[in-house]
Amino acid sequence: MKILVTGGAGFIASHIVDAYVDAGYQVVVVDNLSTGNINNLNSKAKFYEIDITNPDLEKIFKSERPDFVNHHAAQISVPVSTQKPIFDAQINILGTLNILQNAVKYKVKKIIFASTGGAIYGDAEEYPTSENYVPSPVSPYAIAKLTVEKYLHYYNYQFGLKYLALRYSNVFGPRQIPHGEAGVVSIFIENILRKESSNLYSFPNKPDGMIRDYVFVGDVVDANLLGLKIGNNDIINIATNKETSTVQLYNQIAEILNSDITFKRGDSRAGDIRRSCLDISKAKKILNWSPKTELKKGIILTIKFFENKMKEMK
Ligand SMILES: NC(=O)c1ccc[n+]([C@@H]2O[C@H](COP(=O)([O-])OP(=O)(O)OC[C@H]3O[C@@H](n4cnc5c(N)ncnc54)[C@H](O)[C@@H]3O)[C@@H](O)[C@H]2O)c1
Repeated sequence: MKILVTGGAGFIASHIVDAYVDAGYQVVVVDNLSTGNINNLNSKAKFYEIDITNPDLEKIFKSERPDFVNHHAAQISVPVSTQKPIFDAQINILGTLNILQNAVKYKVKKIIFASTGGAIYGDAEEYPTSENYVPSPVSPYAIAKLTVEKYLHYYNYQFGLKYLALRYSNVFGPRQIPHGEAGVVSIFIENILRKESSNLYSFPNKPDGMIRDYVFVGDVVDANLLGLKIGNNDIINIATNKETSTVQLYNQIAEILNSDITFKRGDSRAGDIRRSCLDISKAKKILNWSPKTELKKGIILTIKFFENKMKEMK
């Protein structure tokens, strides 16, 4: 079975590619390397350097004929989406439509889509937030993700293309770059290892920073493996249902690294939401999935990755 993975040179999808290759699937990666890194790419995957908005994408679908598509390529920054909403929509909406059109034309069986549970609900009034809560996005990034979910429903209704949208909370782990939705873990680790201080963004009267639900990338990969076989035409939160404030996160990383470097305070940025914590009972029920990696263990694994990276750079 052949799987086309978009964004497979990036943080999350490169781990998914590794797992698909290990599970014996044939993997084709499509990535424009804008935020991805060729060094993340599994050597057993076939690689096409191309933008998902490029009409030539059709040639790849035509020659490769993938059975499944796993779609992770995206403009991933919430602040960038607020500054450049048209650019965000070009990649995250129009680029995705380019993929969906080809998926239908070349008879793809199912598409797995990386949506966002961390941003889609906005500042929700229900915690932990379940998939039944009506999304109220407060950034162009989250609006685009919600729009794609609606298109997935349409493509299934109209053409029978099966889908699974996984609404991730804040994903962290090895290979994460510090620019994405949840880059804060890698930012804090890199800064402390370099003996530099970090900026900690917070809303007025919320000195502990934002509340987030951090899920380890290895657990996200498990959901993407399970999703190949189960979870049809559904939208499922992938998270931990555990709340961590930015200050708690910083202190935990600093404690593990035995560091007394302090942080500087900064104001929240456009598109930031105050609190995010997701209900994961649907993932347990439908995918038989639950997170296995505690925050502390995930941080330790991520620190090891950044320590090795820094040694290699010396
Ligand atoms: N990191 C998180 O916490 C998080 C949370 C929710 C959803 N997501 C989603 O998961 C997906 C992967 O995110 P990530 O954190 O691994 O980010 P990432 O930047 O590491 O990965 C994105 C990949 O897509 C590629 N890409 C970007 N624009 C492209 C384009 N126009 N054409 C082709 N390739 C392109 C990049 O080069 C990169 O390799 C994204 O869709 C993101 O929105 C991430």
